[in-house]
Amino acid sequence: MSQVHVSTHPLVQHKLALLRDKETGPKKFRELIREVAILLTYEATADLELEPTSVVTPMGEAEGARLTEKIGLVPILRAGLGMVEGIWEMMPQAEVWHIGLYRDERTLRPVEYYNRLPVSPTVDVCLILDPMLATGGSAVATVNILKRWGANKIKFVGIIAAPEGVEALTTAHPDVPIYIAAVDDHLNEIGYIVPGLGDAGDRQFGTG
Ligand code: PRP
Ligand code: URA
Repeated sequence: MSQVHVSTHPLVQHKLALLRDKETGPKKFRELIREVAILLTYEATADLELEPTSVVTPMGEAEGARLTEKIGLVPILRAGLGMVEGIWEMMPQAEVWHIGLYRDERTLRPVEYYNRLPVSPTVDVCLILDPMLATGGSAVATVNILKRWGANKIKFVGIIAAPEGVEALTTAHPDVPIYIAAVDDHLNEIGYIVPGLGDAGDRQFGTG
């Protein structure tokens, strides 16, 4: 389980309870997805590589550091979209590569419908963004896509996971760390996380 990082940050846990609340409407829900994504990404990026630099302040020279790795944000459509903007503000130079997947309602298997990755990788670190890790099928499929592309440093940033999803992703890709706000109790018979928060796409986009 060392690759599974469940945030214990009080702000994350406070906002997670508000996200779960069925009385939280789409506007507030989107704000919370954005804020929790920023907080979890702060934890997920603690090992980004730096190189020394120096800058001139109004008072003289200062030693500093700058990021050396190119970062790619990889939201899984639709629900991952809400996690992009806030993270992007913190690292405006990041590239954003969308992956379109939906779960077949009957089989719960992911169906790919959008992927415009160029032939060769253009980033050093990929952060997959999707609030829900349920069966894990969508996350595993996205890591498969990114590895075929040639990405070799991949992290998954989610919000709520089911134990089944954590097991599926860590088994298929033990090299991919998972950053999450909670690992819930179980999946129900139609593949929803219990207690979870319901349908993350519908609650963001008002389509439920
Ligand atoms: C949801 C969610 C994940 C996926 C998780 O998307 O955003 O992508 O389900 O389930 P899994 O771990 O079992 O694959 P959904 O397929 O409902 O599509 P949407 O975001 O477009 O509504
Ligand atoms: N997708 C969601 O949006 N919610 C779940 O509980 C499972 C998959």
